[in-house]
Amino acid sequence: MKIAVIGLGFVGLSLTSVLASKGNNVVGIDIDVEQCKKIRNGVSPFFEPYLEKTLRIGLKKKLTISNDFSLIKDCNMIFVAVGTPQKSNGAIDLSMIRKAVETIGRVLAKSKKNPIIIIKSTVIPGTMQNVILPILEKRSGKKAGRDFGLISNPEFLQESSAIRDTKFPHVIVLGGYQTKFMKKVKSFFSKLHPNVSIIITNHQTAEMIKYANNSFLATKISFINQLSNICQNIPGANIDDIAKIIGLDPRIGKLFLNAGPGYGGSCLPKDMKALINFADGVGINPTLLNAVEKTNQNQMKNIISLIEKKLGKIASKRITILGTAFKPNTDDVRASMAIKLIKKLLKKKAKITIYDPKAIKNTMKIFGGKIVYAKSITDALNKSQCTIMMTHWKQFEMLNNNSIKHMKKKIIIDCRRILAKKELDAEYYAIGIGKRE
Ligand SMILES: NC(=O)c1ccc[n+]([C@@H]2O[C@H](COP(=O)([O-])OP(=O)(O)OC[C@H]3O[C@@H](n4cnc5c(N)ncnc54)[C@H](O)[C@@H]3O)[C@@H](O)[C@H]2O)c1
Repeated sequence: MKIAVIGLGFVGLSLTSVLASKGNNVVGIDIDVEQCKKIRNGVSPFFEPYLEKTLRIGLKKKLTISNDFSLIKDCNMIFVAVGTPQKSNGAIDLSMIRKAVETIGRVLAKSKKNPIIIIKSTVIPGTMQNVILPILEKRSGKKAGRDFGLISNPEFLQESSAIRDTKFPHVIVLGGYQTKFMKKVKSFFSKLHPNVSIIITNHQTAEMIKYANNSFLATKISFINQLSNICQNIPGANIDDIAKIIGLDPRIGKLFLNAGPGYGGSCLPKDMKALINFADGVGINPTLLNAVEKTNQNQMKNIISLIEKKLGKIASKRITILGTAFKPNTDDVRASMAIKLIKKLLKKKAKITIYDPKAIKNTMKIFGGKIVYAKSITDALNKSQCTIMMTHWKQFEMLNNNSIKHMKKKIIIDCRRILAKKELDAEYYAIGIGKRE
């Protein structure tokens, strides 16, 4: 059995590395030549815990990394994990997946195999039937279900635990027709994950499951953020205690109830917008989803108005941002709330210094020389007039009176309540904690 994975980003490279480390014969393909070169040398193009280690184990076994699509011609399974970003109107941008399946189709035309193409990328309901299938049949001159298999297989991994999630998923969803191909894929996954439920459904339901999942998680975040704003106006109230207790109710669950600056990252914002756009297109006014998005955007406004309230006019003030990654243990800054905040503060002519343990390089790609990049927390706080804690990196818990002693004005706005229990010689404001004025 030979397996191809197309698109070596967070999803594809995690899958490639895990499959190869288990001894499968794997070909990982990406159009980015530089990225392929790095991966071939055992270097991950992005930071993800345990990824490099797993990749290197795989490279010692049967793993090939290339930008040459012809290598997929003798593969039995072809996973597709290319990006599906959003267009400026919020709709899903399918150009990468179109291009990838066009190429697969052309290779398929010359192949003697009957491979199974498995779509991992998040795609809006109907994409498999209306976009992917017609392209593949046209380019290959072959028939889906007879000459090749086509399965939807949405991915649920989270960045920062991508390897663990790939090794131990909570569920496997397979969308498609009950064909010999479906049987093969089911048997493949049941061997790979013996104790995990495998749900077989049709394509459009599988596609929608992914959006249901992410929009529910976004809803939980906006819900707790709205409550945290209310708490801020109740002296002594603490959103973390509230989240902890409601999370004990099994009907609610404890995850995704961390109040903060709003959801960011490469998935929730774009998937929410794509679902809203899709709902509009099928004649449904998605009032709840719109409210979730609006609450998320308002959270940023709340932070800025808190800064203005505590610091006065923002222009030419020296402001430190601690954490630019959209969450800890990743260097991913895509749709990060910290990046959004920096852009807004720069517009108001603030002087920005940032520190992040992993994401400085990616932040530099966005802001170049417009902001200052510090080498440590203390460095970042030197002469600062206000610091805003955006990402809950473990390192930030070490911050103490010594680290802030060279701040020009000791104002701390803690969007993650990292320092809530510390006695600091500073004006300290935390999102979700009511303060007596
Ligand atoms: N990142 C996550 O946490 C996550 C979780 C679940 C699902 N997803 C979904 O999985 C998909 C991939 O996400 P990601 O974060 O891994 O993306 P990514 O942007 O990190 O990686 C995508 C990769 O695909 C490559 N690529 C683009 N076009 C290509 C083509 N035609 N042929 C070969 N390679 C091509 C790019 O060079 C890039 O390396 C998306 O649909 C995303 O919504 C992502």
